[in-house]
Amino acid sequence: MCGIIGYIGNKLAVPYLLKGLHDLEYRGYDSAGIAVLADNEIEVRKTEGRLSALEKLMDKKPTKNATIGIGHTRWATHGKADSLNAHPHLSENKRFAVVHNGIIENHASLQKMLEREGYHFIGQTDTQIIPTLLERNYNGDVINAISDTIKMLDGSFALAILFVGDTENIYCTCRSSPLIVGISKGSGHIASDETALVRVASQSVRLGKDEIAKVSRDGVSFFDENGKPVKKAFKKIERSTLDIQKNGYEHFMLKEIYEQPKAIKDTIRPLIENGKLRIGEYFRESGMDTGSINRICITACGSAYHTGLVGKHVIERLAKVPVECDIASEFRYRQPLLDENTLVIVISQSGETADSLAALRLAKDKKAKTLSVVNVPSSAIAEESDCVLYTRAGPEIAVATTKAYSAQLSVLYLLAVHFAFEKKTEKKEELDALLGHIINLPGLVEKTLKKTAEICKEYSKIFIGSEHAYFIGRSLDYASACEAALKIKEISYIHCEAYAAGELKHGTISLIEKDTVVVAHACCKSILKKTLSNVMEVIARGAKVILIACESDREILSEFDNCIFVPDTSEYLLPSLEAVVSQLLSYYTAKGLGNDIDKPRNLAKSVTVE
Ligand code: AGP
Repeated sequence: MCGIIGYIGNKLAVPYLLKGLHDLEYRGYDSAGIAVLADNEIEVRKTEGRLSALEKLMDKKPTKNATIGIGHTRWATHGKADSLNAHPHLSENKRFAVVHNGIIENHASLQKMLEREGYHFIGQTDTQIIPTLLERNYNGDVINAISDTIKMLDGSFALAILFVGDTENIYCTCRSSPLIVGISKGSGHIASDETALVRVASQSVRLGKDEIAKVSRDGVSFFDENGKPVKKAFKKIERSTLDIQKNGYEHFMLKEIYEQPKAIKDTIRPLIENGKLRIGEYFRESGMDTGSINRICITACGSAYHTGLVGKHVIERLAKVPVECDIASEFRYRQPLLDENTLVIVISQSGETADSLAALRLAKDKKAKTLSVVNVPSSAIAEESDCVLYTRAGPEIAVATTKAYSAQLSVLYLLAVHFAFEKKTEKKEELDALLGHIINLPGLVEKTLKKTAEICKEYSKIFIGSEHAYFIGRSLDYASACEAALKIKEISYIHCEAYAAGELKHGTISLIEKDTVVVAHACCKSILKKTLSNVMEVIARGAKVILIACESDREILSEFDNCIFVPDTSEYLLPSLEAVVSQLLSYYTAKGLGNDIDKPRNLAKSVTVE
């Protein structure tokens, strides 16, 4: 998703803005631009493509030396990904420059109104109306102009604004799209997330809904949506965000795949003390009484949704609580029946996913209890839920999630055990044993990485040249198949479909023909025979099968050619080991295809638009 950067200080703005945009590249984009203010003139440089194209343009056409500017990486929502639609956008009188992350839902009607008032537009973006609205609403006070403008906007926005008449401040405001203000000695900073602040600012604060900030070299003034001054407290920036280097790995994705044991260990450590589960303390500290919960709704997007599918199985089977699992963009429109006895769990690596945030807000409107499982500290979803259990995977830079996914799974396993203890639905010794397996999970993931990396590299060749691939499984294996399909799809661009193995014969098996690639997740022993019968059905139609199964089944599976075995553990935890195999298969397939593994086409790390 788009990245915003702003700087005012005593150094040259352009190198700072470009560096900050590089820090935000992982968010995903398809054009980029900057605007600087010098000699009472705003200069804009913007282009489609990667930042390297913008840097080439800057070399060819440098701007004046300026110490105040804004920058943007755009992930196209309205209008082609070209230099015309790239940000920053200027007002018609060239006195306002704006960069925007989000979607203005009433941009068409506002554009018509402005055109009737004699303004002209040349691009196709929703953003272009904002600088012109500022021009229209400006009567000598920039804060009032911003306040009047955002009251006219429907939808989501994070805005950084330059005004030609004020070389001492950059302005910013936001609604449902993250924006963070940073300060350091002699400089002020704006960014979409802390990744771009951690090197240059010592403290930061996240802007609240419709709040406005006036950022100068010597400090920041804050205002509410009516332009009334408000106070906000800065906090020290987490230096851990600095950990965004590849440390010798060729790609962030590979580094993060191998960071999974540590990510799981760091995540479960605060939740288990001396072998005893502490999740109840987190609920109590947040004032949540979980005893009255009689239903759970899990909601998330993409891979986070797939961890929800696993969570549904494990919580229902252990805690005997009914669990629904919805894609967030569906959950928020199906009028879910929620009440104070429902716990809504929102899972999100970034904590900023627009659909998941909207689902959380819907749950709160309906008086449900809300718990979030989030990886980015003080993100919107974390701050707005009643209780948050953080995954401590550290900054995840690759668009394709790996370590955060595994960390999310470990939180869901522990939640299931917590509810089972609380509701006394399983024998204590059984739950203690499962807790022991969860504590051993980092070691099992480590072992899986060691045992399967080479064979995954080898079997990834099976995908090269294939246009389609199918991932099948039953029960928990089906949840793993869903994540495996997405992993291959999102970085190798091969069409993949996950299918409940038992459902295949009800239509989709018609697509299986000679050499069709089918990955069968067959780790659930309780239904292994059933899954194998589905495997035989596709083999009978010429499919090329890769089988993922447990080590202890090696003997009975000796007749199958391409098997990848994961270590044995509790059936509930196998999705964590299958995920490692899927990630490695995906990584080596994309590598074999020469794709941009960390920044795959069309994708964004944090989808902050609906
Ligand atoms: C997963 O590899 C993708 N990057 C994507 O599906 C992601 O899981 C989804 O957009 C949800 O993101 P979140 O966890 O930050 O909410």
